[in-house]
Amino acid sequence: MIQAGIIGGSGYTGGELLRLLHFHPKVEVTQITSREHAGRYVHIVHPNMRDVARLKFIHPDAVEACDVLFLCLPHKTSAKHIDHYANLAPKIVDLSADFRLSSTSAYEKWYGEPHAAPEWLDKFVYGLPEQKREQLTGANYASGVGCNATTVNLALYPLVQSGLLDRAFIEVKVGSSEGGNKSNAGSHHPIRSGAVRTYKATGHRHKAEVEMILGDDVAIDFAVTAIEMVRGIHLLAHCYLNEAKAEKDIWKIYRGAYREEPFIRLVSGRIGLHRLPEPRVVAGTNFCDIGFELDDDGRHLVLVAALDNLGKGAAGSAVQSMNLMFEFEETTGLQFPGIYP
Ligand SMILES: NC(=O)c1ccc[n+]([C@@H]2O[C@H](COP(=O)([O-])OP(=O)(O)OC[C@H]3O[C@@H](n4cnc5c(N)ncnc54)[C@H](OP(=O)(O)O)[C@@H]3O)[C@@H](O)[C@H]2O)c1
Repeated sequence: MIQAGIIGGSGYTGGELLRLLHFHPKVEVTQITSREHAGRYVHIVHPNMRDVARLKFIHPDAVEACDVLFLCLPHKTSAKHIDHYANLAPKIVDLSADFRLSSTSAYEKWYGEPHAAPEWLDKFVYGLPEQKREQLTGANYASGVGCNATTVNLALYPLVQSGLLDRAFIEVKVGSSEGGNKSNAGSHHPIRSGAVRTYKATGHRHKAEVEMILGDDVAIDFAVTAIEMVRGIHLLAHCYLNEAKAEKDIWKIYRGAYREEPFIRLVSGRIGLHRLPEPRVVAGTNFCDIGFELDDDGRHLVLVAALDNLGKGAAGSAVQSMNLMFEFEETTGLQFPGIYP
């Protein structure tokens, strides 16, 4: 049994990690931090954990040595404290954007200032197991993933690899938990409730992670729109192919890429209500569902994907990465199928 600590445990990703790790057979969460709630039981903030996890928050300054630390902190915070946390734990998974990009210039371009700990950037492996499984196995440091970037990367990767993709226009719809637990003008209830608010039509920061994984040879643009949803990301991508293909060809490409992937499900049915992915179906899970419809001309492919921003888009991928880092079975603690309806 390894001992884990969650830094920034009163937030949304910290709460999701606690829920996942509590039922992980090889992990015991021994420390969880909150500056605001230090000394209080975790269920005061995460009511779903009442009488399940009888743990109290501690102040981050009181954290002691353990086997792995999960940093669930706002951007630009982990980088400032990474030396301190690395002295406390031999393995770290950082969910923020601080260690996702491998280059300092890319970081500066997308995050608007020099990186606070550039010497750490190449020590971290990007925490997307579907892309970095080998590097994550036995690794000491893994970054988290951008939730929108992960949806784009997982949905588009097989198509980009096939060499068939000419251009993709993507609409990403997101739920409110993506913004974390601190309120701002855009999260105020009268503004957020019932919203269909495109808040980033071009130049979303996650494009940096998309370019890092998919390359920049193919033009892939995405806009992000906040909708009435708490958890979840829904991606719809209009993809234009450089030659006409049949549906079976697209199936072959996606099955070839994802047949062995435990958390990617291909969803493209002819019958039933959920013939294409839907965020509600994957809420609370580590699944990314991917489906498609091909237009009659064989060149216009509409991809649809869904995942939970707090699951596969954050805490789920973090646990999957941790499993690889400790060389546990990769799916351990992540097999929850969600609830329905
Ligand atoms: N939400 C998502 O869907 C999502 C998805 C992927 C990645 N991420 C990334 O994951 C990270 C955490 O996101 P989140 O949504 O969980 O954020 P959150 O809900 O705002 O939680 C962050 C927590 O960090 C603690 N904190 C803030 N500053 C701190 C400091 N200087 N030292 C110690 N603790 C501090 C806060 O707790 P106290 O004030 O009580 O200490 C807060 O509860 C972010 O970098 C985010 O971008 C989020």
